[in-house]
Amino acid sequence: MHVALTGATGFLGLRLLRGLLAAHRSVTVLVHAGSGDALRRITRFFELTGSPQAFTAGLSDRLRVVETELERPRLGLSGRAFAQLADGLGAIWHSAGSINLEGDLPELRRTNVEGTRRVLELAAAGRGRPVVHHVSTAFVAGGRREGVAYEDELDGAYGFENAYEHSKYEAEQLIHTWSREHARPVVVLRPSILVTDLPPHPELPSHPLQVVERIMRDAHRTAAATVRGERDDGRPRVRLVGHPHGRLNLVQVEHAAEVMVRLADRTPSGGVDTYHVVHDRDVPVPTVVTLLEELVPVSIELVAAEPDDPSALESLLEFYPGLTAYLAHRRRFDDTRVRTLLGPSATSGRVDLGYLRSGLAGRERVPAGPPPTVGCPADVPSAPRP
Ligand SMILES: NC(=O)c1ccc[n+]([C@@H]2O[C@H](COP(=O)([O-])OP(=O)(O)OC[C@H]3O[C@@H](n4cnc5c(N)ncnc54)[C@H](OP(=O)(O)O)[C@@H]3O)[C@@H](O)[C@H]2O)c1
Repeated sequence: MHVALTGATGFLGLRLLRGLLAAHRSVTVLVHAGSGDALRRITRFFELTGSPQAFTAGLSDRLRVVETELERPRLGLSGRAFAQLADGLGAIWHSAGSINLEGDLPELRRTNVEGTRRVLELAAAGRGRPVVHHVSTAFVAGGRREGVAYEDELDGAYGFENAYEHSKYEAEQLIHTWSREHARPVVVLRPSILVTDLPPHPELPSHPLQVVERIMRDAHRTAAATVRGERDDGRPRVRLVGHPHGRLNLVQVEHAAEVMVRLADRTPSGGVDTYHVVHDRDVPVPTVVTLLEELVPVSIELVAAEPDDPSALESLLEFYPGLTAYLAHRRRFDDTRVRTLLGPSATSGRVDLGYLRSGLAGRERVPAGPPPTVGCPADVPSAPRP
């Protein structure tokens, strides 16, 4: 069976490609047209992460690179090229997308919803009826901040923290409709926040915590340049809406990709099979706060509601729904289906402060300030095990 993968140059896609190359002699990578030398970027990833030279030297033979554009009809291919591509496939892995947490809905819809529509069209066109493995996100659970989110749920009633979540939710809705109308199986993989302890490198894709770090630093710099007099010991106080018992699910990207590839060994049910690819322990929000305070010289205070008198820095940070909303989350993701299928091997190592620091290492670290504003408890078990 021949497989194709979109998003192979991405933070997750590169790890998925590693897993797919372990199982398949060759893989077609549907890379982003015009976004730079994909084969070179992929090769550099494998070199930088310690793959043997013989493996990296053989990549150009094992990868068939096809330039595609998610936003365009037939992925930007000619009718003939599209049909030929579709007919040669037994499975399509769709990992490409925009994870821009600051993006607006129309822009995110173009990539995440219309892009998924194009991939489904490719699957529909294939004579071999390729199975679609769609990478979604556990955050389609949206604005629901407490309780347990189950794998079978897809409910927009709670609203969304940002347009990214909304677009990924709409993509999943599209998949359900398509699967019903075409009587075709789709595997939906919902990872939580993906993290790594691999230090940042200019030739590797960045990950969400690096983006959060950038946002915090930019906001801090802008506020410091425009406003004087707010500082206290060089560390402005920042009140962010959050919960002291909040918890976030962060899972190692390598582990998540491995779980996803292993789930592909199962025979799909025929409809939409959805899996939460999450860690069995959540990271307490105070640990995330401590990390942020190490990265940027601020003193974060979690508050129940937005302050009436926001400082310049607080106002700037409120613009970033991808950053602040999650500090108030206390929900858990149920992953019974994954654990039932994979057993204890679905469990991964700890994601703690040390692990998270490593994935951001190499940056200038803020000298130790006052003790963290909130305590830094150990991680907490996620959804109760069956
Ligand atoms: N990162 C997370 O924490 C996380 C968590 C849950 C779910 N997810 C989901 O996982 C998937 C992969 O995320 P990621 O972290 O790997 O993101 P990423 O590092 O930003 O990679 C995105 C990939 O999509 C490609 N792409 C973007 N726009 C495209 C377009 N218009 N046409 C064709 N290709 C395009 C990019 O190609 P170029 O690099 O060449 O532009 C890149 O290969 C996404 O669907 C995301 O929603 C991610």
